[in-house]
Amino acid sequence: MSPIHFSQSILEWFDDNGRKNLPWQLNKSPYRVWVSEIMLQQTQVTTVIGYYNRFMVRFTSLQCLAEADEDEVLGYWAGLGYYARARNLHKTAKLIISEHQGQFPTTHTEIEALPGIGRSTAGAILSLSLNTRSPILDGNVKRVLARFHGIEGWTGHPSIAKELWYWAELYTPQDRFTDYTQAMMDLGATLCTRSKPNCLQCPIKASCRAYIEHRTKALPFPKPKKTLPVKHRWLLHIENNKHEVFIEKRPPSGIWGSLWSLPEAPYPLDDYEIVHYCREHLSLECSVSTHGTSFKHTFSHYHLILHPIKLTYESSLPTIKESFGSMWLKGNHELGLPAPIRIYIDTIEEEKKV
Ligand code: ADE
Repeated sequence: MSPIHFSQSILEWFDDNGRKNLPWQLNKSPYRVWVSEIMLQQTQVTTVIGYYNRFMVRFTSLQCLAEADEDEVLGYWAGLGYYARARNLHKTAKLIISEHQGQFPTTHTEIEALPGIGRSTAGAILSLSLNTRSPILDGNVKRVLARFHGIEGWTGHPSIAKELWYWAELYTPQDRFTDYTQAMMDLGATLCTRSKPNCLQCPIKASCRAYIEHRTKALPFPKPKKTLPVKHRWLLHIENNKHEVFIEKRPPSGIWGSLWSLPEAPYPLDDYEIVHYCREHLSLECSVSTHGTSFKHTFSHYHLILHPIKLTYESSLPTIKESFGSMWLKGNHELGLPAPIRIYIDTIEEEKKV
């Protein structure tokens, strides 16, 4: 199949079947498309839509985002995960104000140099918002091309990625860049899905190696699995007599960076050691009340098992410890807590009502 035939088939399919009313496809601008692409980097369209709309109502422009407080930006991100994305987004907005006179850059080199933006995301921003010829190779496009060419190997491997970029570049047509880019994403997301591809509807099946050779199940190869290590931590649920919960702001780097959360302590420790830990690290005098039900949260590089322990606050000691901030959380708050912590607190609140 010639490159022209390939892109024509894809565009004809897009005209009838592509997505044309996603929120970031309306009132297109580099700023709006950039925010959507960052949200969509690790999260599905259906989840992103609500977050995206709320974010855009609050941060209507790049200026608006740059001037906001980091805590507020993180609050709008809470629940989406991978919070480095939100911190980079905020940092980048400020950088564009200081280094690019507040105008989102329009060259691939400048865009790719921004924090949190790789080659494919830079391509997507340019092609989707400015109809520039700038190929992309996100997870969806990798799958489509790996199947089409019957490429064996993990698509994240540098030599495989190099080959896929070659095809992505070759097939990108000489016009309709916005439509073609969206079409490839849509084809991957709606037809050429990982587990149940709908090959009969596919506009390029006649030349697809995986389809012809009945290998769609095997291609693309999955990422080589490494078993993730398991870490255990105590989750300190400290309540005062006003039913407020003690929370801390986490350090800017590491998991849940800069988010407010319940304090944690090394595991295992016995009750006596936990009380001592609260005194030493939180400057709080507490007594152990009950142990809660442990739960697991999986990050990209490890499983975290949190063991909640409920403590009753007795008094505060003069604060001497280093801290990024702490406070007592009331029931109806707007703070961006990490999703598993929010779920834990909400569950406890619900249980109190019954
Ligand atoms: N995933 C990444 N970018 C997307 C877009 N513009 N539309 C749908 N899914 C996407």
